[in-house]
Amino acid sequence: MEQPADIPGPGSPAGPPLRVLVAVGPTHEPIDDVRFIGNRSSGQMGLAIAEAFRRAGCTVTVARGPGVPAPVGAADLRFRTAADLLETLRSAWPDHDLLVMAAAVADYRPAGMVSGKMRREDGPVTLRLEPTQDILSGLASSRTPRQFVVGFALERPEELESSALAKLERKRADAIVANPIETMDAPDVDAQVFLADGTRRAPGRMPKPDFARWLAAEILPRALARRGA
Ligand code: CTP
Repeated sequence: MEQPADIPGPGSPAGPPLRVLVAVGPTHEPIDDVRFIGNRSSGQMGLAIAEAFRRAGCTVTVARGPGVPAPVGAADLRFRTAADLLETLRSAWPDHDLLVMAAAVADYRPAGMVSGKMRREDGPVTLRLEPTQDILSGLASSRTPRQFVVGFALERPEELESSALAKLERKRADAIVANPIETMDAPDVDAQVFLADGTRRAPGRMPKPDFARWLAAEILPRALARRGA
């Protein structure tokens, strides 16, 4: 297993700190006023990544979903739905150099929210779902040549590589961090990172905070080189 490398400082001695935007946690898509469609993301991995970049001297903004604790030493933005997240990131992204899209965004949301509370005595219900917008792909497409974009992918182990490579291209990201599905809720991670320059890195299984430091050390020099001094 590779040891987490030392994290470089905030970059070229004269340059300002890298501005990092990290999206973490689940989205909640409302069904009615009390129910929602969510997912099991705890935001643990994303918060650890935000902390690793902060410790490396970066200026960090965290956009966090429901149930994710407040970050320490970072600007704090909140979102609930995929649509909120899109709006939040659209307005924050121009002031950042690096996006780490670790949020577990719902792929589908109820096509129409019912106001009030649905009653059981009304009988069976069919929910019609519509796809949400692909936030990562939209932000990656609209980035400037100096901005760097990292996406995540949660995959079945047998298709981890093929699916991650397909997402790298489809979403126009600079890197995809691919995790096997078992990673969700687990204290450890066994991720592989696929970069748009063809590099592939697999640091082995490790606790999430160690992986976060390893990832920051991998990405920081690349994002700094992209930004320029
Ligand atoms: N993502 C996003 N907007 C969405 C869905 C996902 O920005 N509506 C982002 C996630 O934050 C992640 C990356 O895209 O960084 C991959 O998410 P994933 O759910 O694995 O990919 P999907 O495009 O939803 O593909 P699928 O679920 O079919 O594998």
